[in-house]
Amino acid sequence: MAPGSGRAAIAAISKAPRVIEGRLEMGGQEHFYLESQAALVSPQEGGDMHVVSSTQHPTEIQHKVAHALHLPMHAVRVETRRMGGGFGGKESQGNHLAIACALAARLTGKPCKMRYDRDDDMVITGKRHDFRIDYRVGVDDQGRVLGIDFVQMTRAGWSADLTLPVADRAMLHADNAYWLPDVRIESHRLRTNMCSATAYRGFGGPQGMLGIERVMDHIAHELGLDPLSVRKANFYRKVEAAKTGPGTAKRFGGAHSPKAPEHEGPQTTPYGQPVEDFILHELVAQLETSADYAARRTAVAEWNAANPVLKKGLALTPVKFGISFTLTHLNQAGALVHVYQDGSIHLNHGGTEMGQGLFLKVAQVAASAFGVGLEAVKITATDTAKVPNTSATAASSGSDLNGMAVKAACDTLRARIAAHLAEKFQTAPERITFADGHVTVGGERLTFAQAAQSAYEARVSLSSTGFYATPKVAWDRIAGHGRPFFYFAYGASCSEVVIDTLTGEMRILRTDILHDAGNSLNPALDKGQVEGGFVQGAGWLTTEELVWDGKGRLRTHAPSTYKIPACGDRPRVFTVDLWDGANREDTIHRSKAVGEPPFMHGISVLMAVSDAVAACGSGAAYADLDAPATPERILAAVARQRGSA
Ligand code: MTE
Ligand code: MOS
Repeated sequence: MAPGSGRAAIAAISKAPRVIEGRLEMGGQEHFYLESQAALVSPQEGGDMHVVSSTQHPTEIQHKVAHALHLPMHAVRVETRRMGGGFGGKESQGNHLAIACALAARLTGKPCKMRYDRDDDMVITGKRHDFRIDYRVGVDDQGRVLGIDFVQMTRAGWSADLTLPVADRAMLHADNAYWLPDVRIESHRLRTNMCSATAYRGFGGPQGMLGIERVMDHIAHELGLDPLSVRKANFYRKVEAAKTGPGTAKRFGGAHSPKAPEHEGPQTTPYGQPVEDFILHELVAQLETSADYAARRTAVAEWNAANPVLKKGLALTPVKFGISFTLTHLNQAGALVHVYQDGSIHLNHGGTEMGQGLFLKVAQVAASAFGVGLEAVKITATDTAKVPNTSATAASSGSDLNGMAVKAACDTLRARIAAHLAEKFQTAPERITFADGHVTVGGERLTFAQAAQSAYEARVSLSSTGFYATPKVAWDRIAGHGRPFFYFAYGASCSEVVIDTLTGEMRILRTDILHDAGNSLNPALDKGQVEGGFVQGAGWLTTEELVWDGKGRLRTHAPSTYKIPACGDRPRVFTVDLWDGANREDTIHRSKAVGEPPFMHGISVLMAVSDAVAACGSGAAYADLDAPATPERILAAVARQRGSA
């Protein structure tokens, strides 16, 4: 991607002791949000429109409806109470319904509502981008990558929609957790006569990441090494500064000079961002122990030697996911907070709720700022008339952005209340504390409601906006260089599967996940995101297959033919733990974004399946399994393996 570096990568590959080539195809994915796309538009006086939409992006709905009706944006108000799931499928795909309803509302003067039924939703709306990735990699005898060349191809469908940023993010995750000294990445975004592929949890990241994870497995096979040891040999190096906080990396100014010793300073990603917060050495070591990787590797080999029909496979894969919108200006958020004279709090911000728990996390932020219980905080529907110019709730940054904006608003209000009480009780504002539903001023202890009442009577404004813009990010997408991400979220998963080599059936026997949510704002919610993300990721790579016939009709347009994971498909043993460590960057209470990164833990399932397939036959050929690894594909891969014996 970085211009000029392409030739260096080709040279590095040709000089390498071993060169390995391959190709991987991966399918798209239907979002299968439980609530399908929906909009309700009511005409208002003066030609204004009120829109209720199931959308992750109220401002875009507002903009599109205003544009379609030739209205200024102030004439269109969009509200989103919550979605019955979005998963990226409601970043842009709700526009059509909202515009159609608005047009009908204008022409009839009556409210108009539309909701796709399941089959229509599946046929019409965009899905995850499918990808083909070709790779050519040069490695040394330890399996370390010396140079690598990727060609990524993806089908955009009939419109560009979000293909540009999705395909960019696939390029930006082609390294995953590994230092690639010389890289060339070619990205093709293909126009096809199909539904318009769109955002889906991970936003291209999973596709790019799967490419390099496949490469790691392929290297291990060619060199006869354990795939985990190859992965570790390629990890970004550990930076001691990661523990001591921001700024320390400066000390390692010589990091980029060729003389810098191996253990010093951060290595940079292919796009030039130093990886300063790399924790995967420790995190993977901890998971390796808790999941008993080494012993189970032996047990799986023994099982496979003794059993001709049922073959087992094991894999441990890491995740490093960049947090921030790559379109830098989207990294901003606003909030509006009112404190009423009875001490109750009205909270609004630009984020939307889709089951990920954002509203609860943000309410916790407000409650802790005022030292009150959650019941004092009313979380209201997202509303373009309250907080304008919002970004989509996407890129996992909902709580990072809106949490900070809400905190800014609450801090302003708390400071106003404190200043008032300090004057009234003749003390310093710093000596006033907000905790346990009370405000303590010197010897006085008021309820929060009494404090609010007192401020109101003293004519103090009890309403404030808050605003946040993510610091440090800067990205030149044409040059392919900069710091697109504020920080990285990490994690690793270990999956064991069994396949039936006569039927192609597969079961996940056990999955262990250790995931980095920083100082978790809400561990229960975060664990839920990790579990759900993993299951959705595993579904993408195993059971969920989109089939179009020769006439371009989608044949898998209902749950009868399109198989999302059911309860029975979850791992028989499923252990999810959160990594104990704060974000080294100054995020809301030092937490980390958690919405998308766990999706990519599903990759360990595909790698485990391919490990099981490799146990068939002589093992001479690499088990190049495409995704989704449906029973048909597993059977075909087993047949190829046995044929190569
Ligand atoms: N979790 C649930 N239950 N439902 C969803 O629709 N969407 C995912 C993720 N987790 C989703 C979810 C996607 S694609 C993103 S980008 C994030 O949540 C968005 O929310 P956040 O930024 O608040 O994490
Ligand atoms: Mo998520 S794909 O960024 O909505």
